[in-house]
Amino acid sequence: QAFFKSISNAAPPSPTKRHTKISVIGVGNVGMAIAQTILTQDLVDELALVDAKSDKLRGEMLDLQHAAAFLPRTKIHASIDYSVTAGSDLCIVTAGARQNPGESRLNLLQRNMALFRSIIPPLVKYSPETTLLVVSNPVDVLTYVAWKLSGFPANRVIGSGTNLDSSRFRFLIADHLDVNAQDVQAYIVGEHGDSSVALWSGISVGGVPVLSFLERQQIALEKETLEKIHQEVVHSAYEVISLKGYTSWAIGYSVANLARTILRDQRRIHPVSVLAKGFYGIDGGDVFLSLPAQLGRSGVLGVTNVHLTDEEIEQLRNSAKTILEVQSQLGI
Ligand code: NAI
Ligand code: LAC
Repeated sequence: QAFFKSISNAAPPSPTKRHTKISVIGVGNVGMAIAQTILTQDLVDELALVDAKSDKLRGEMLDLQHAAAFLPRTKIHASIDYSVTAGSDLCIVTAGARQNPGESRLNLLQRNMALFRSIIPPLVKYSPETTLLVVSNPVDVLTYVAWKLSGFPANRVIGSGTNLDSSRFRFLIADHLDVNAQDVQAYIVGEHGDSSVALWSGISVGGVPVLSFLERQQIALEKETLEKIHQEVVHSAYEVISLKGYTSWAIGYSVANLARTILRDQRRIHPVSVLAKGFYGIDGGDVFLSLPAQLGRSGVLGVTNVHLTDEEIEQLRNSAKTILEVQSQLGI
């Protein structure tokens, strides 16, 4: 006997409400921070988790399911078998080795590249229409690897890139000027890593261009102060890793923020890793790095044409060169 009896003449379920599904690959610190942020923000109907360690995976799934009474309703599945990801709108890849204290992101490449060969093909097989969002490091090179292995058009392969670095940047500027970080428009572009580029010329707070405002007020914001803030952004992850062993909360929010824009077709602009060849004079090969990109349901809709100073363009090209040098050792 059914628990509920249908009411007579009930209309069939509305076909207009779209069912949405996200898969998260890798249920370590980062994957779980993303999963729990997605759940609390009510972003999807279905969440699938995949990892290579079945006990850890089942433990994490149960622990999240046990919060059901306090969360918006989301169906949570988990399996080491990729069939659980079938029909995903978005697949977020966080599996892989992370940095030891002091180790650079680029140093992780060989270890994580091997994992991607076993992760990307089954994701593509079960969700041929999905968008891939790569988080594992080094994120720019692995986004290129995911693009190559998937055979997807470039608009459906995105790296979380400097969305996180830009949030760190906005926090530090907001702290410096004693304003709300959400009112600070500021981008870090290029590599998510040591060669990232701060776009000082474009920073504004509440619509006021910061550099020209400070100049008008004759407040000297010396180059060293600016450089110190950027260096602090670059150093942020190293500091957190040396203190707690890994980073998780900020990347969790950063990726949930991207997932919202993509799934809800918000068409917001985020600095994320995209195929950058041809933009701002970047040449020399197919390279993924972060540029301010408009995102929506079909992935990357376009790259915004920000005005960069000659110095910023030069730094961006150097960042592309750094990534391409690492990429050239891959042989794919
Ligand atoms: P973690 O060690 O806590 O978790 C990694 C997970 O991947 C583990 O659960 C492991 O079992 C799983 N895994 C390993 N091989 C797998 C395979 N073949 N298939 C499925 N799952 C597999 O590491 P954490 O802290 O979660 O970091 C994960 C990655 O995210 C690292 O590469 C890290 O550098 C990167 N990261 C990237 C950020 C970004 O801004 N792009 C920010 C923070 C971390
Ligand atoms: C970050 C990782 C480690 O938190 O890439 O920046």
